[in-house]
Amino acid sequence: AQVSVFEGPETRVWKVRAKVLKGPSTSIKNHPDTYLAPTIRLKKGQKVRIHLNNNLPAHSILHWHGLHVPANMDGNPMYAVSHGESYIYEFEILNRAGTYWYHAHTHSVTARQVYSGLAGLFIVHDDEERALNLPKGEFDLPLVIQDRSFDKNNQLVYSDHMMQRMQGFLGDRIFVNGRPDYVLPVAGQAYRFRLLNGSNSRIYKLAWSDGSKMTVIGTDGGLLERPKQYSYVMLAPGERIELWADFSGRSVGSEISMRSLSFDIATHGHGGMGMMGGGRGMMGGGRRGMMGGGMGMMHSSDLPSGSEYSLFNVKVIKAGKSSQSLPERLSTIPKLNVRDAANNKDPRTIRLSMRHMSALLNGRSYKMDDVRDDEIIPVNSLQVIEFDNGYSGMSGMPMPHPMHLHGEQFQIIKRQVNPKSREAHRTIAGGLVWGGWKDTVLVMPGEKVTVLKPFNDFKGLFMYHCHNLEHEDMGMMRDFLIK
Ligand code: C2O
Ligand code: CU
Ligand code: CU
Repeated sequence: AQVSVFEGPETRVWKVRAKVLKGPSTSIKNHPDTYLAPTIRLKKGQKVRIHLNNNLPAHSILHWHGLHVPANMDGNPMYAVSHGESYIYEFEILNRAGTYWYHAHTHSVTARQVYSGLAGLFIVHDDEERALNLPKGEFDLPLVIQDRSFDKNNQLVYSDHMMQRMQGFLGDRIFVNGRPDYVLPVAGQAYRFRLLNGSNSRIYKLAWSDGSKMTVIGTDGGLLERPKQYSYVMLAPGERIELWADFSGRSVGSEISMRSLSFDIATHGHGGMGMMGGGRGMMGGGRRGMMGGGMGMMHSSDLPSGSEYSLFNVKVIKAGKSSQSLPERLSTIPKLNVRDAANNKDPRTIRLSMRHMSALLNGRSYKMDDVRDDEIIPVNSLQVIEFDNGYSGMSGMPMPHPMHLHGEQFQIIKRQVNPKSREAHRTIAGGLVWGGWKDTVLVMPGEKVTVLKPFNDFKGLFMYHCHNLEHEDMGMMRDFLIK
């Protein structure tokens, strides 16, 4: 596929390749070519026209994750084009500055296409952000974190056998910006790191290796009101986090790494499928955590989600300009109020469940253009939406689900945890970021998360789905009809 972006008189053509011919090796380190699609940077208020020319031997469509665009520009799978065809997008950037992204959204093959390289960053700038004088240029660094597996011929390996789809594909190695064993050379000064979890299903519990606090300045929908310190931050597939990373106090030659710490990915004694075995949830386990006894038809990755491992290293290679100071106040975020919601007495509940080898939303699986009464939302209304992942009843196999809503960004207003899941939940709770605009929210087993979301400006179909891409492809996706 090829994406060309027209902004004003200037035309830039970026090629987006969806097939990796050569896998990464250590020699690729300084090579600009990776399987990852290029970063598109635009300003709020700009109008863009994007041509998706599909040269893949398959149908495909691109979605602009986190952007508020009209329904026919949103990459609904119904707009997929086949080989040799094009789809022309035209929209205005209405979003505030932030780290958004784009990726394939093709019916039942989204996971495979994203994994193969059809995903890249879409960074938006605006005047409010510019006035803050945050680190720019080479000090404003996107870091796309993904896991991949390669075979001995250095070719991408993807498998979506049933059991793999149930938990989501997990690769054996961590890639940053499309490269393995990533070492980031930095100067001893402040940086803005924009982290995207572009993995199909892997959830990260991010922390600095030396235990120093992480300073979070932004989330899915741009900057927070104020920087906030965390010992660790959870980052589920589809989510972004922006960090202020100041290396000015570190000596030249020193190294620090970003790690993923261990956590409980599933709850205990809460399963309904009788394949949990005892003890830890099926996804917990050590290396090659098995999917429960007797189901030896597959093993999961060498790098189970929920185990501890390193993501990338940062190496201070030279002194930098010292003491750039982090603004105390970054932005003003209007606080949405439940009382203003059109359905404030009757929240829309979306029950998440996995059973009988299917992943469902309110017991339904994805069908194109199949909107039910409870999926119709009046345009220009604010809505209370609850994601219930086995909080108020059995949900089958306990799994975390990063839930994503297309269209405008939302705010998280409440998290409730079933008593049975509290112990597991404690291993992640300190890393859940509140307070900013979000488009994807991690809903752990036994949890119910309530969000407030505006549905302004555009009518039509807007998707809601799990951003574990294997779950999405299994049908854990539906449309809202805004009218
Ligand atoms: Cu990032 Cu509908 O997806
Ligand atoms: Cu999206
Ligand atoms: Cu899911």
